[in-house]
Formats: sequence, structure tokens, C-alpha cells
Amino acid sequence: MRPNCLLLLCLMLMALSCNTDKPADQASIQKDTADCWTGASANQIPVDSSGDLIRYGRNLIEKTAYYLGPKGTVAHMSNGMNCQNCHLDAGTKPWGNNYGAVASTYPKFRDRSGSVESIEKRVNDCIERSLNGHALDTNSKEMRSVVAYIKWLGSDVKKGTKPKGSGIVELKHLSRAADPVKGQLVYTNTCEKCHGKNGEGQINTDKLTYLYPPVWGNNSYNTGAGLFRLSRFAGYVKNNMPNPTNYHNPQLTDEQAWDVAAFVNSQPRPTKDLSKDWPNIKKKPFDHPFGPYADNRSETEHKYGPWKSN
Ligand code: HEC
Ligand code: HEC
Repeated sequence: MRPNCLLLLCLMLMALSCNTDKPADQASIQKDTADCWTGASANQIPVDSSGDLIRYGRNLIEKTAYYLGPKGTVAHMSNGMNCQNCHLDAGTKPWGNNYGAVASTYPKFRDRSGSVESIEKRVNDCIERSLNGHALDTNSKEMRSVVAYIKWLGSDVKKGTKPKGSGIVELKHLSRAADPVKGQLVYTNTCEKCHGKNGEGQINTDKLTYLYPPVWGNNSYNTGAGLFRLSRFAGYVKNNMPNPTNYHNPQLTDEQAWDVAAFVNSQPRPTKDLSKDWPNIKKKPFDHPFGPYADNRSETEHKYGPWKSN
């Protein structure tokens, strides 16, 4: 095959995958978008009493701090962040850590808890870890609403399947360890103007909610949160930061995403007792930063890599 035929073939293959960095042209971008799951918008929520619960659920995802934050109108039980800070556009955005695969795959067995988890349990996990807060009562109107919204959103997805573009992208591993020193440079140049010199974010003038959410410090996610794993953080920022970014036009190279993950996740943040997590240590993800492990590599090596052998 002539070299430019080979190039053309590569470009075609890239265009077929939703996961590519730079789609070849406009036509392939449209194809990608058609392929990826995107959640329904607020104005598609039914206008009846079932819709009211779903609508309140969506509001809670978008404005969690307003209802449940440190000065929340319903309860004071979380750190001031919103679900939407990490589940972008109310959990509808392709590769924006969306909820596309939740209704279709839960209840399911998860290795972190070593048990079958309901959607309610998974939501409370994020409240206790990502929002560094206290669990919602399963029967509360707030929990019922959030679950109703997530189920409604995923009702077009076939049971047992995970649609393309759902959750967070898996980036290729680097051949070296992720580097907090290089990551600090990325942070200073690309992130600091919104998330602050000390990762503290920027509070709105209402003092209830954040304009830019914190990425470390007392008001940020704790050490038990998904984003504290470098692969989750790097995959999230690759397709979504600096805000607004989407997977068609990422601003960071994979290296920059891994390094900035290493920098941010080496800064101080609230801790959580994780002694009950991963009862079967063989099931710990490659980048889980806390031992004991089934191999003899250190916590540092698990946290930052290199993970070539995985
Ligand atoms: C600091 C970021 C952050 C915040 C805030 C946050 N989450 Fe999450 N959430 C995550 C990450 C990371 C994951 C795991 C994604 C993965 O492993 O691919 C996750 C996973 C989930 C899942 C499971 C998704 C799946 O496909 O299995 C649900 C449901 C969920 N979150 C709900 C919520 C709700 C509801 C809130 C607000 C009350 C919330 N989250 C707040 C980061 C966050
Ligand atoms: C122009 C402002 C801006 C820039 C620059 C920016 N962000 Fe963000 N970031 C945001 C906003 C706004 C959100 C919340 C999005 C939402 O709620 O819709 C966010 C959310 C996040 C989150 C999830 C929530 C949290 O606070 O933990 C992380 C992690 C994050 N950004 C990391 C980064 C990194 C790393 C960079 C640099 C590569 C960056 N951001 C650059 C505005 C920005």
C-alpha cells in the first residue's frame, strides 16, 4: 500500500472512534457526535407529576450547593461543590463523566465496596467522597428525585449496555511516572486563573455557590473520591478542561493531563477512612494510591506510575 493510502486508512479508522483527539474533518465530527450518547435536555422532561420529581432531581445535580451545601436551603451536608462540576451539563455531556450508563448497569456488583450497589448507594458514595459530605436518607425527596432524574436520563439505553461516550475516557498510560513538577507548570499556565493559586476556586457573590469549584484544600473532594485517582482526573480534564472544552477539541496533551493530575492530587485535601474499600485487594485499580496491594510495589508507584506493566 502507498504511504498516503495508509495515512487515509488511519484517518478513517480515527474517525470511527468516538475517543479520538482530533477528528479528521467536519464530516467525521458529525459522525462522532451521532455515535456518542448525549443526555436529554431539561425541556424534554415530562410536564406532569413524574416530571416534577425528575426536574427537582436535575436542579439538585446542577445546584447541589444551593440546596445541600454549607449554607444550603434544604440541609447543610456537603462541601459547596455541585454534582455538575464533575458530571457536566447535568450529566448529559459526551465524555463529560455523564450518567449514560447508570440506569442501564445498576444495580451492579462493585469491587470498591465488594457488594451489589444500588443507584442510591452510588449517589451517596459521591456525596460522602466527592462532596466530602453526609449521606442522604434513601427515602428523602432529594434522593428519590436525583435517582428519578438519572433513571429518566438513561431510559433510552439498552439494559446491560454502556453507551459510547459515557463516563470518563481512558487515556493511554505514559511510559514514565506522571510528574507533579511538570504538572505544576500546566496548572499555573492553564488552570490557576479560575481554580486559584491555592486550588481554592472562586466563590460567587451569593457566598452559597462557586463560580469556579475548588480542586484542592478543605472544600474540595476527599481522598476517597474517584478524581483522586490519577486516571480519573486525567481523563476528565483531557476532554473537559480548561472549561469549556469538549472531546472534539481537547486543549491538553495526554502528558499534560497526567502531569496536572499528579500535581493537583499531591496537594492537601480532606481525608477519608478507606479501610473498608476493596475488600479483595487483588481488585484494586492500577492507580489506587493506598495499600495494601497484591503486588510489592509502593503506594507512590501505584499512585503516579509508571504503569507500563498494566
Ligand atoms: C469531584 C467530582 C465529583 C462530584 C462533585 C460528584 N461526582 Fe459522581 N463521580 C465522580 C467520578 C470521578 C466518578 C467515577 C467515574 C469513573 O470511574 O469513570 C463518579 C461516579 C458517579 C456515578 C456512577 C457513574 C457510573 O457510570 O457508574 C454516579 C451515579 C454519580 N457519580 C453521581 C453523583 C451525584 C448525584 C453527585 C452529586 C450529589 C456527584 N456524583 C458528585 C466525580 C464526582
Ligand atoms: C475558564 C475557567 C477554568 C479554567 C481555565 C479551568 N477550569 Fe476547571 N472548572 C471550571 C469550571 C467552571 C468547572 C465546573 C464546571 C461546571 O460546573 O459546569 C470546573 C471543574 C473542574 C474540575 C472538577 C470539579 C473540581 O473542582 O474538582 C476539575 C478537576 C478541574 N476543573 C480541573 C481543571 C484543570 C486541571 C484545569 C487546567 C488544565 C482547569 N480545570 C482549568 C473552570 C475552569
